[in-house]
Amino acid sequence: MASAVRFQTFGGTEVLEVVDVDRPEPGPGEVRVEIVASSINPGEAAIREGRLEDVFPTTLPSGEGSDLAGRVQSTGPGVTGIEAGDEVIGFSDRRGAHATHAVVPAENLVPKPAGVTWEEAATLYVAGTTAVAAVRAVGIASGETLVVAGATGGVGLFAVQLARLAGARVIGLARRDDHPLLEDLGVEPVEYGAAALERLRELAPDGVDAFIDTAGHGSVDLALALGVAPERIDTVADPAASARGVKTEGNAQGGGAATLARLAELVAEGALRVVIDTIYPLQRVAEAYDHLATRHVVGKIVLRME
Ligand SMILES: NC(=O)c1ccc[n+]([C@@H]2O[C@H](COP(=O)([O-])OP(=O)(O)OC[C@H]3O[C@@H](n4cnc5c(N)ncnc54)[C@H](OP(=O)(O)O)[C@@H]3O)[C@@H](O)[C@H]2O)c1
Repeated sequence: MASAVRFQTFGGTEVLEVVDVDRPEPGPGEVRVEIVASSINPGEAAIREGRLEDVFPTTLPSGEGSDLAGRVQSTGPGVTGIEAGDEVIGFSDRRGAHATHAVVPAENLVPKPAGVTWEEAATLYVAGTTAVAAVRAVGIASGETLVVAGATGGVGLFAVQLARLAGARVIGLARRDDHPLLEDLGVEPVEYGAAALERLRELAPDGVDAFIDTAGHGSVDLALALGVAPERIDTVADPAASARGVKTEGNAQGGGAATLARLAELVAEGALRVVIDTIYPLQRVAEAYDHLATRHVVGKIVLRME
């Protein structure tokens, strides 16, 4: 048997159950993974609440989760180059990652480097590839100044580090308690709130070249008030802002498995740090999402299956 998260109706975390299911069988081109760790994302909560039906329709009862890291258990017909026992990182695009086992297309999997922990590996797909897309979307060049709103969130912590690797000066908006973490990463922290515009103008008197918004809460207004050109602003938290000419590139533009493999290499090389806020066992998935819903998580929340 396998265990998997299910919800029968849309709603809050009270609709989440962990149920026994048959182990899924891989079809042609597919692989069954015994999942060791997964991570959770705000978009998954929005899907479960029924708020994203126009973009990502749901068939009830539904499973949940994209990010996964685990061991290959069996392969379907036609799969080559991957075999039982391989340690992999990947993603489910059928909402099957919050489970002990998942079947995914072989091309959704990349090798897990030995130096990357299961928990680290499980954070990289949704948040990491979204950060890659956002940094690419704003076209950051070495020496330019970038502001990241939500700098210590799941996407934000990847975005600030990727922009630093690209040679940018990075200013991160975050709560004061989290400023030491940003400083450790070579990021200049600024508290968000009413006085943020003045603080940013003071810190960057020659202007800000680009802005990534992972927080919402008027961050696009802030970016425009700073004089950043709309085409150099990317938001993953405020889709309606596309009407104002800003970009909304995220996971879909992130580059999938190839980007995931590159992110894993960066972690293995020590060039990219994965910050994990809390690890919950699968059985406590509802508590994990309640924690994420505070929207003041530092880095990622991980689910551990075993
Ligand atoms: N389009 C896509 O492909 C895509 C992919 C992934 C995520 N997303 C979206 O991107 C957003 C971020 O995701 P995530 O996983 O990074 O979320 P997260 O881990 O919950 O991070 C949220 C961040 O928002 C900050 N924040 C909370 N309240 C704020 C406020 N009033 N003003 C400014 N900042 C505030 C928090 O900072 P403090 O702790 O410092 O308050 C935190 O760093 C979500 O809306 C998510 O749905 C989109």
